[in-house]
Amino acid sequence: MKYVFLTGTNRGLGEAAAKAFTDSRIISITRSSVENTDNIYKAFTMDFNDTDAMEQFVPEIFNSVDPDENDEVYLLNVAGIVDPVKAVSNLSAEEMLTNYKVNVVAPTLLIQGFVNRFKEFGGEKRIVTVTSGAARSPVEGWSVYCSSKAAVNMIHSVLDKENIHQGNNIKSAVFYPGVIDTGMQEVIRASDIEEFPNLDRFKEYKETNKLAKAEDVAAALYKVVTLEDFGSKESYDVKDYI
Ligand SMILES: NC(=O)c1ccc[n+]([C@@H]2O[C@H](COP(=O)([O-])OP(=O)(O)OC[C@H]3O[C@@H](n4cnc5c(N)ncnc54)[C@H](OP(=O)(O)O)[C@@H]3O)[C@@H](O)[C@H]2O)c1
Repeated sequence: MKYVFLTGTNRGLGEAAAKAFTDSRIISITRSSVENTDNIYKAFTMDFNDTDAMEQFVPEIFNSVDPDENDEVYLLNVAGIVDPVKAVSNLSAEEMLTNYKVNVVAPTLLIQGFVNRFKEFGGEKRIVTVTSGAARSPVEGWSVYCSSKAAVNMIHSVLDKENIHQGNNIKSAVFYPGVIDTGMQEVIRASDIEEFPNLDRFKEYKETNKLAKAEDVAAALYKVVTLEDFGSKESYDVKDYI
């Protein structure tokens, strides 16, 4: 049995991922409650902005299952936000911190909880965090989003070294999902062109059907996570698996 700890399960790519992992027990971790609970094994709700609550409750989430050595345990960090979409000159500390908590601190606390719970576990154990092309390419108005995804990429790179040094036998990688037709793209299209000069390009993606369906990206994510040699690369790109 696969036990899949999954964030963002209530909508967008996370919801599609929950449906794609049909052979798995999904342990859902969301802020909002999940409407479609068909294949949800357990559900936890927490706001990733509340880092104190996260530090307190994350161990409980990973202690909620008791896999045996024939089982596999996965952590899929999918939840994320793009806001604030603003020029550096207009950013406030509070909105920067909100993004970094959701995009960097929360996935890292979940990785920490997963490592501490399963480092001695003898079965297969894998971690994937959904990143973005924005981690590698600067986009005007997205300084916080770009830097948050770059941070998560580096956390994975460091984690890989630590896992080897500590003998944890945990495989990890980041996943580049491309542009997906989800709520995040609606947020992007609602941006102020003064803050986000690429606005028209993203509107055109929608108008010309350039956005991938969340189900197709989730199917690619499933392929990646279940690859025989998963973890042999630091990152996987949706275009190679769709
Ligand atoms: N869509 C794209 O084109 C695109 C491109 C590149 C990368 N990505 C990445 O793909 C991942 C999935 O994005 P998506 O497109 O599925 O976005 P989405 O449809 O906007 O969904 C975002 C998810 O993150 C959750 N979330 C937001 N703030 C949260 C908080 N404070 N605490 C807990 N959960 C919170 C949301 O929960 P609520 O419903 O409670 O808000 C929702 O489940 C993200 O990491 C994103 O950066 C997306």
